[in-house]
Amino acid sequence: MVNAIQVIAIDGPSASGKGTVAQLVAEKLGFHYLDSGALYRIVALAAQQKNIAWDNAEALGELAKKLNINFKNGEIFLGNDRITELVRSEEISRGASEVAIHPQVRNALFDLQQSFRKAPGLVADGRDMGSVVFTDAKLKIFLTASVEVRAERRYKQPIGKNTIHKGLGANYAQILHDLQLRDTRDGQRRTSPLIQTPDAVLLDTSNRTIDEAVEFVLNEYNKKLHKNVLSH
Ligand code: CDP
Repeated sequence: MVNAIQVIAIDGPSASGKGTVAQLVAEKLGFHYLDSGALYRIVALAAQQKNIAWDNAEALGELAKKLNINFKNGEIFLGNDRITELVRSEEISRGASEVAIHPQVRNALFDLQQSFRKAPGLVADGRDMGSVVFTDAKLKIFLTASVEVRAERRYKQPIGKNTIHKGLGANYAQILHDLQLRDTRDGQRRTSPLIQTPDAVLLDTSNRTIDEAVEFVLNEYNKKLHKNVLSH
């Protein structure tokens, strides 16, 4: 059956800016927003709290089925605990990409991700939104940037806007290294690897601002809507 609720799928590698772009597009359109990466982060955190190893596929799959996750006003809750900042640590970022390789975990999160598809529409960001979870998405965007640009963005991310940068030090090198590792793991895993599907539009943000990227996505979406009107 055709699902009439529109989805915009935005997939891409770490620190490409897809989360920020996806949220702004959702805001502009009044659509719901799914941060699918947060779900994998939550599985990694919950596993750590319960002493389940990130390579224990069966136990992680069972755990992922039972999680009580809530997103409220930009905050993330696991049961009654607010875990918004906890899930963004570098350690949990690594854990998320490790637990995400297991089909048991991905299957357990599939229905939960589908449940975010509510009227008037959804913007979903992740790695496999267009290729696996919302294959019928109205618009699929593959949002990327060079690994150096992404490392620089991630490096600058936690620092306040009034902080003066004194050049990129060892910390930047570590971030670049982690990103390269995660790119390889996400792109080469057997289940749902990060790929650009033939029907996805490429958006390279290396030389674009966030606003330009948002504008690009909205334009592409309008083109898709217009095309439908013409063909009916
Ligand atoms: O912010 P960043 O792009 O680094 O990460 P994220 O989008 O929060 O995703 C964290 C990890 O979850 C990624 O490294 C992926 O391995 C995994 N992930 C996935 O496998 N499938 C998704 N749809 C989203 C995230």
